[in-house]
Amino acid sequence: MKKVYIETMGCQMNKSDAERMYGMLEHLGYTQTEEPKQADMLIINTCSIRQLSEDKAYSAIGVWGKWKKKNPDLKIVFAGCVAQQKGQELFRRAPYVDLVLGTQRLYELPELVKKIEAGERVVSCEEKPYEESDIQINRIKSINAWVPIMEGCNNFCTYCIVPYTRGRERSRKPELILAEVKKALAEGFKEITLLGQNVDSYGKDLEGWNLSRLLKEINALEGKFRIRFVTSYPTDITDELIDTVIELDKVCEYFHIPMQSGDDYVLKKMNRRYDFSTYKKICEHIRTRIPDVTITSDFIAGFPGETEEQFENTLKAMTELELDYSNTAAYSPREKTVAAKWVDLYIPENVKNERLARLNEHNRKCCLASNKKYVGREMEVLIEKFEGVNERGKNVITGRTRNNKIVHIPYDKDITGEFVNVKITNARTWYLNGELI
Ligand code: SAH
Ligand code: SF4
Ligand code: F3S
Repeated sequence: MKKVYIETMGCQMNKSDAERMYGMLEHLGYTQTEEPKQADMLIINTCSIRQLSEDKAYSAIGVWGKWKKKNPDLKIVFAGCVAQQKGQELFRRAPYVDLVLGTQRLYELPELVKKIEAGERVVSCEEKPYEESDIQINRIKSINAWVPIMEGCNNFCTYCIVPYTRGRERSRKPELILAEVKKALAEGFKEITLLGQNVDSYGKDLEGWNLSRLLKEINALEGKFRIRFVTSYPTDITDELIDTVIELDKVCEYFHIPMQSGDDYVLKKMNRRYDFSTYKKICEHIRTRIPDVTITSDFIAGFPGETEEQFENTLKAMTELELDYSNTAAYSPREKTVAAKWVDLYIPENVKNERLARLNEHNRKCCLASNKKYVGREMEVLIEKFEGVNERGKNVITGRTRNNKIVHIPYDKDITGEFVNVKITNARTWYLNGELI
């Protein structure tokens, strides 16, 4: 049996793609290994959201190139978002690569592997969305199954590379999604997370479908399980969707709604289609209608031209909106994007990093404040992991509440996959402590 190792960087969409690649390769006689040195085929599944993520890919693959000198039969595949964006050019940078596989050509993997096994070198990353086939998926062992429902983005925020790496928005066929969800539930998965760059756009290209209808169909499937969906574009969250979340018992009280900046001028320059007060209304609307809802966000520090005052509006927004958690990043110029051309407006590295540090500090405060709200409450937790002995010598299990809070619970048995009721005893910045009731 030949062995394949996949190194995955980036977001859940890439993780989901890796599960699909493993599935397709198993049919060609490859087994999965966690040990790159033992592999006959190495795949790097890359992310290009920031320069740092792209650079990480090049340094990882440089090491593999050295291995190939000693073992010329080793096959190296450059996949993911950097592959989709750079294509042929990667052969010049890394001449030992056998296959460059763009995200939009994922399902061609089996035929392309046959070609590289026969000694060819191939690039496949033209912007032509793949024809999806019903394939095996070798999922990561966990209680949660990632299920992509749409891919791509039509928004073209001025900083973002994603529309160039994942192409235009397109929805997967509902029957394929439902079949995949049914299979995951039959395999014992307890949580289904629907994935997409803009999940609320689901169905715009399908007659009679939208995210609410899809959620209803999945919610109607038998068994006890949870449903989540990420990521939402603020102004695409409809009243119908909020009603659906309220109405459906399996859909969790959790929204990830990236805001990016709390300043109206910066938002405009980012080409986001809302201002602070619009975003605030959306948040308030969700919070009044759905008690205990968790709202998380993403923010960028040091966007070209951002003044100290504009940056402070972001800090203010985080506090005022009581955001439960935010992903943060310093602005990184990306090739082809509009903002990358505003070189004169670039914020110096040290200022960006200083702002990022303040953003992170603010985020920690918001997280702790959010977690404290739940001390003393009883909550349903889905156990994800048996952690083993903690620093105080006690066995600990961890899980999540419906509203996506991580809870640590002292317990001696591995009950991964079970739903339990927990009393929250203490709040930390990144998690809650609780006891089984
Ligand atoms: N579709 C989602 C986000 C996808 S990208 C949305 O619309 O919000 C994930 C996050 O990466 C973004 O929310 C943004 O905060 C961050 N990001 C994207 N491009 C970036 C860049 N050039 N520099 C720094 N952060 C970036
Ligand atoms: Fe990127 Fe904007 Fe699309 Fe999100 S909505 S993926 S940030 S272009
Ligand atoms: Fe990165 Fe591509 Fe996801 S750029 S964040 S892996 S869509």
